[in-house]
Amino acid sequence: MSQSLKQRVAVVTGAASGIGAAVADAFAAEGARLFLADRDLDGAEATAARTRAAGTTATTHRVDLTDADATRAMIDTAHREFGRIDILVNCAGLLTEVPFVDMPVHIWDEMIDVDLRSVFLCCRWTAPLMVRQGTGRIINVSSQLALKGGESLVHYSAAKAGVIGLTKALARELAPHGVLVNAIAPGPVETPMVAGISEDWKKAKRAELPLGRFGVPTEVAPTAVLLAGDPSGNLYVGQVLGPNSGDVMP
Ligand SMILES: NC(=O)c1ccc[n+]([C@@H]2O[C@H](COP(=O)([O-])OP(=O)(O)OC[C@H]3O[C@@H](n4cnc5c(N)ncnc54)[C@H](O)[C@@H]3O)[C@@H](O)[C@H]2O)c1
Repeated sequence: MSQSLKQRVAVVTGAASGIGAAVADAFAAEGARLFLADRDLDGAEATAARTRAAGTTATTHRVDLTDADATRAMIDTAHREFGRIDILVNCAGLLTEVPFVDMPVHIWDEMIDVDLRSVFLCCRWTAPLMVRQGTGRIINVSSQLALKGGESLVHYSAAKAGVIGLTKALARELAPHGVLVNAIAPGPVETPMVAGISEDWKKAKRAELPLGRFGVPTEVAPTAVLLAGDPSGNLYVGQVLGPNSGDVMP
């Protein structure tokens, strides 16, 4: 079987759970070597054990991506360990729901820190290495709520829209250096992130979706494989791909 990411080194954040874990599994199946980062080390270890069983090399790293120094140390460690970084997937994220008129400033700040600033930080420390290599892929996980907005999700929608702006601008800057930057904006996906939302909301949301159902992480991960792959991802620059059950049709 041909493996589209054979021996490529991939750093995946948020790899302990949900979409990030599924991306790790899908990358392992394609032969990538993995550096799996999360603040939940046990979860990252579980993902790593699965991917090793699938025959790949995987290391784990506990990190709080709101910490700039720790994030820099994480990228340095991955680079030292593997000698290069071919793919960065920024998947870690947080979802909280608060009506805007009640939103405490610290909730806004926390969201921007986790869902936007962490993407900046990981890109900031990885991009110079990729530019030196003359090759690389950066895949930022946004959300379709960046495009349509969500009630009680002003902070989340703003952070995820920021990820799209960052992606497009960075894509322009890095493409001439052989580094391709793109985003994935999923619709609702069954992961621990949405597990806490009320069944009534989920039922109403499903009814709104042209596909009539949420996605599962293994249906999002192949989009990351496509963007990371050669030649499948070679012409994507600053694009926002939407595995979203039809929720948004840009
Ligand atoms: N599930 C959905 O419906 C959905 C839809 C659109 C976009 N997304 C986005 O997809 C990405 C993955 O979400 P998921 O649904 O798999 O969620 P998840 O909760 O299953 O996974 C998120 C992971 O991020 C990690 N994380 C959170 N904050 C961190 C921090 N400060 N430092 C390090 N790690 C941290 C968590 O420990 C967790 O393992 C997120 O960016 C999310 O916003 C999810």
